[in-house]
Amino acid sequence: MRYLIKGGIIVDPVKETLAQQDLLIDQGLIVNIGADISDQEAKVIEATGRYVCPGLLDMHVHLREPGYEYKEDIASGTRAAAMGGFTAVACMPNTNPVADNGSVISYILQRAQGMPSKVYPIGALTKGSAGKELTEMADLKESGAVAFSDDGQPVMDAGMMYRVMQYAAMLDLPVISHCEDLSLAGGGLMHEGPISAMLGLKGIPAAAEEAMVARDILLAEATGCKLHLAHISTVGSVRMVRQAKERGLKVTAEVGPHHFTLTEEAVQGFNTNAKVNPPLRSMKDVEAIKEGLKDGVIDVIATDHAPHAFHEKDAEFQYAPNGLIGLETAVGLVFTELVHTGILSVPQAVARLCTNPRKILGLPGGFLDIGGVADITIIDPELSDVVDPGKMQSKSKNTPFGGRRLTGWPVATLCGGVLVMENRQLQE
Ligand code: DOR
Ligand code: ZN
Repeated sequence: MRYLIKGGIIVDPVKETLAQQDLLIDQGLIVNIGADISDQEAKVIEATGRYVCPGLLDMHVHLREPGYEYKEDIASGTRAAAMGGFTAVACMPNTNPVADNGSVISYILQRAQGMPSKVYPIGALTKGSAGKELTEMADLKESGAVAFSDDGQPVMDAGMMYRVMQYAAMLDLPVISHCEDLSLAGGGLMHEGPISAMLGLKGIPAAAEEAMVARDILLAEATGCKLHLAHISTVGSVRMVRQAKERGLKVTAEVGPHHFTLTEEAVQGFNTNAKVNPPLRSMKDVEAIKEGLKDGVIDVIATDHAPHAFHEKDAEFQYAPNGLIGLETAVGLVFTELVHTGILSVPQAVARLCTNPRKILGLPGGFLDIGGVADITIIDPELSDVVDPGKMQSKSKNTPFGGRRLTGWPVATLCGGVLVMENRQLQE
């Protein structure tokens, strides 16, 4: 199939430039980029006033398959990704069974064939993510794992993390760390502060995250391992990442859109859709994260898309699981809260949603080039709409953003040269 994307603004997140040009796709590849391309046979995708971006990649997604298909599966999760403008996702290993061996990784890759978004599996650091025994990390890599993580659980034992990092360094894959010291977080339900006191909910102090960020930066330095810090959420974490980078360490970091758009106040009314780990923090933390995004200390925006069934979230606050879905609101939140407010330019936003995560995971691409694979996301920056969880592709609806008006939505997604979403409709 040939497609001609007409009149759009081509985003180059590497050179940080924008240019109005046409783009021609044939047989899955970008075959021409230039002014006024015409082609009789190609299907035209009208993109005047829209940003034509290299396909976005969400490096922190829970697809829940195998084992928790009632929450999400690879089919529904990749549909949600395509709707959200993501041509690729990296999926976390906290499935059932845990993706802690090559056969689970192979299973995920096989199930992901032909889906509307590409899937890059992440292998577990320890068996069952229980923190006690190393996985066969070389086997995981050979089977297709792009990184290692026990996300959802911290590796509490520093000696274990040290060994894991030594192996990861040898295999040249990043360790993605879920930073939470359970002896500090223990049993907490939300951010520790005035709201937790008011609601009578046990708090999780910022130090629970920061103590582990400090430890893992130290261990990454000692082992030479590439360390990627998942979902950081506090002033102190941003500061430590900044310092680590200044010292030239191989440390990168991500934040979720919920951590730069919501504070602990969203929990008021015991809203279980605002229960997430790490928890929504204070306004000061939100400001530090925005600053970190602006100056590039935070490399990546990743959603931590964590689907849970309605009946699980429809529980007393203490019994509801942590997590919120993010694939279908990420671009809207980034444009509304970061781009339209002048915090990030469009190329900078795309770098954090595409180029930087690709680089961290060692994947090619991340920019639009003749000869490259046609993974493309088209965004209408002025399209304004209210988030409607009922219309989402995800099997789960646990979002705290329902009813929120967002300006700037993905309007077309091409994955490997196939138009998988157009005008906010999936193409079957
Ligand atoms: O809120 C969260 N949900 N945080 C995690 O670390 C895990 C995730 C999940 O798997 O539901
Ligand atoms: Zn996660």
